Amino acid sequence: MTKSGPQHDLSGRCRVCNAQISAFMSFGRMPIANGFLNEEEIANEYFFELAPAFCEQCSMFQLITQPQPEKMFHGQYAFYSSSSRYMQMHFEAFANKVITEILAGGSDPFVVELGSNDGIMLRHFHPRGIRHLGVEPSVNVAEVARSRGIQTTSAFFNRKLTEEIVGEYGRADVILAANVMCHIPDLPGVAAGAQHLLASNGILIFEEPYLGDMIGKTSYDQIYDEHVFIFSATSIARAFAPYDLELVDVAPQITHGGSMRYTLARKGSRQATARVAKQLAQERAQGLDDAKTYLGFRQNCENSRARLMQMLNDLNEQGKRVVGYGATSKSTTVTNYCGITPQLVEFISDTTPIKQGKLSPGAHIPVRPYGEFIRAYPDYALLFAWNHAAEIREKEQAFVAAGGQWIVYVPDVRVIS
Ligand code: TYD
Ligand code: ZN
Repeated sequence: MTKSGPQHDLSGRCRVCNAQISAFMSFGRMPIANGFLNEEEIANEYFFELAPAFCEQCSMFQLITQPQPEKMFHGQYAFYSSSSRYMQMHFEAFANKVITEILAGGSDPFVVELGSNDGIMLRHFHPRGIRHLGVEPSVNVAEVARSRGIQTTSAFFNRKLTEEIVGEYGRADVILAANVMCHIPDLPGVAAGAQHLLASNGILIFEEPYLGDMIGKTSYDQIYDEHVFIFSATSIARAFAPYDLELVDVAPQITHGGSMRYTLARKGSRQATARVAKQLAQERAQGLDDAKTYLGFRQNCENSRARLMQMLNDLNEQGKRVVGYGATSKSTTVTNYCGITPQLVEFISDTTPIKQGKLSPGAHIPVRPYGEFIRAYPDYALLFAWNHAAEIREKEQAFVAAGGQWIVYVPDVRVIS
């Protein structure tokens, strides 16, 4: 097994504060995480080196190189937010909270969501007659939202776009984003856009995979092309401060294997809750602002890979059938970093039609409809969609009753039945 040092001298400038940064490890040659492909597309498959860095100046965890956004978010974007029932419920609760706690009493409020995908969140604003605008560059998912009557523009969010939005609709009372902010490489451009777009008493709320969870659980599969950043309260507070936006609240979420919801407001417009100071202190205690923490994380990734491959090779030698469960973006990092082949994992079961019949990016494991998993249960299911474990294990009781077992690798590699 090779060590996970960067293959080249991977250094560059911090995307937020412009300090000099260097990758502390590399996950190697990596394809587009949602780049499911056909056999004939293999010859032209795109790869880049997936290497994370930690900025010691502003504490931002980020990728050194990232593919062009147009390679990831386009008319064939394979991720539809509404594919999970739990996520649907989560966004209903999120939307209701915004409506009752924030918009209540305001006259004719206006809500903007970045990366509104198929409308999983805005669909709760639309029937109440709340003025809204979704900003979604992936046209296929945006089209689903439009067909539900949700006002959506297919564009990338930046300062220039916010000028157009303000011109047409006025300023926003709330700007929302979920699992999107960490996709946008020009975070300062987003902050500048939010600064322009927000009404004087407006708030910006977004939730994203949380660095503290990723480090604590060695869930390295959060690192893939789309996630150019993994945020912490520390790095968010610093990134938005130059735009006079202040972190006024934080709230941990269980979604996506551990997320954090950040609330920001114009400086001085709202009192920060005690939760903010507490979170910042907790992050210092966890060492999230210390470069040494990331060397420990690198070691943990290497150990996790070695254990998973040992287990898959052993099962293969015993002639056991192993099938992947959920062709997640995250699984692209795991399969490529660990070197999982179709010999070891027969296919990946997934409910998303656009992924079915294709091959997984890089590792080229066939993705098959869920019906095939049910039709002939494997001996083991490798839970790539581990962030949906509660929903999936509840749904798959018959698999376990039939003697099936789960392989999980977060927070450590083990078999559960
Ligand atoms: P998700 O875990 O949201 O993440 P990401 O791509 O961000 O890593 O994707 C879940 C994938 O798993 C999606 O392709 C749908 C699939 N899935 C199933 O096949 N069955 C299920 O029961 C669930 C919940 C998801
Ligand atoms: Zn920085």
